[in-house]
This record gives sequence, structure tokens and C-alpha cells, in this order.
Amino acid sequence: MFVSSWLRGVARLAMSATQKPRVVFVLGSPGAGKGTQCKNIMKEFGYVHLSAGDLLREERSKPGSEYGELIEQHIRNGTIVPVEITCSLIERAMHKSGGNKFLIDGFPRNKENLEGWTKNMADRVQLEGVLFLDCPEDVSTARCLGRGAKGSGRSDDNPESLKKRFETYVKDTMPIIEHYEKLDLVHRVDSKQSPKHVFQDIKDIFQQFQ
Ligand code: C5P
Ligand code: MG
Repeated sequence: MFVSSWLRGVARLAMSATQKPRVVFVLGSPGAGKGTQCKNIMKEFGYVHLSAGDLLREERSKPGSEYGELIEQHIRNGTIVPVEITCSLIERAMHKSGGNKFLIDGFPRNKENLEGWTKNMADRVQLEGVLFLDCPEDVSTARCLGRGAKGSGRSDDNPESLKKRFETYVKDTMPIIEHYEKLDLVHRVDSKQSPKHVFQDIKDIFQQFQ
């Protein structure tokens, strides 16, 4: 009797652990192809794609947004918005989507992002891994400038903002990737290849997550 109720308790715990929403973080330099590849993954593997940058741009554009101006300043400067704002936008979007597996693209971007996530969200999700789209600066910059020239409408796809975005990436985001590397959670893909080839490599990784 005692043993069977204990076993039921264990089974319940195991259930609730497996039922936590699953999360894959997608990190890489500006122009590494995070948005492009997340769309591919979403279609092929049924994840909900949440881009921290897109959520911030959406919040910035809301009429009367309390944080609109602050967000725009950070975006133009290539610096990182306070985590309370970004994390609550992500949390809200997760609930709203009703999904249970998420690609969180462009987050955590610095130590403060990581700490905010750890404090508020980490226990409530199951982190499957970190997809790292590894792309050298020249290729990344050329892609963003190309995107800007084609009319991406982004206030940060210009040479001045890009330089700062890259500095932030090297100084603040690389240490986060290294942190997850130590935890053996990072799946690195060479993303200077064509989008098609990058996705071939990504598919091999995501098949392991299924
Ligand atoms: O990922 P994406 O290139 O769309 O990000 C654009 C900008 O949004 C970043 O350069 C940064 O200013 C802001 N951002 C942020 N915190 C994040 C993700 C993006 O402040 N976690
Ligand atoms: Mg993006």
C-alpha cells in the first residue's frame, strides 16, 4: 500500500517533469541566420518560434508603449534591453501561443539575461539545448547589410549599429554560449554555409530532440 502510493507519487513527478514546456535557445551573431533557420525548424519540427528581437520590436511599435523609447535606443546602439522587459515579453508570448515546445531566438544574450531567466523561468521549462549558429563577422555583416539594402526596415541594419551589435555579441553573448558549452548543451552548426546546407545540419540535431 505504502509502496504503491509512493510509486504513484514518483510517476506523477516524472509526468510533471516531462510535461514542462521544452525550450531550445538559438544563439549566434547578427546575420547568422537565426530567424531564417527558426522558420525552417518551426515548419519541420512543430516548434513555436519566439524571437526576442521581434518581440522587442513589436513592443517598441505599440502606440503608447512605456518602454518604446528605451527599446529603440538599445536596438540602435546594439546594446541589450533590461531583462525584466525581455523575459516578461517571452513569458507572455509562451502563454499566449498555447504551445509546449519553443525556439527562443536571440536569448539569453548576456549575463543579465541569463540571470533573469534562471530566476523566473528556468525551473518551469525543460531546456533541451542551445543551437549555436556559428558565423564569421564578415559573412554576418554582409548578410545584414544586404538585408538592410533590400529594405528590412530595421533601424540597426546599418554599418554603425552593426559594429556595435558585433561588439556586444563578442563581449556579452559569447560567454553565455561558453557557459552552456560547459554544461554540454551546445549544438554548433557552421552557418556560413548556404541556408539549405545549414538546415541539413540542423535537422540532424533536432532529430535527436524528438
Ligand atoms: O536578435 P536580433 O538581431 O533581432 O536583436 C536585435 C536587437 O534587439 C539587439 O541588437 C538588441 O538591441 C535587442 N535585443 C535585446 N535582448 C535580447 C535580444 C535582442 O536587447 N535578448
Ligand atoms: Mg532575428
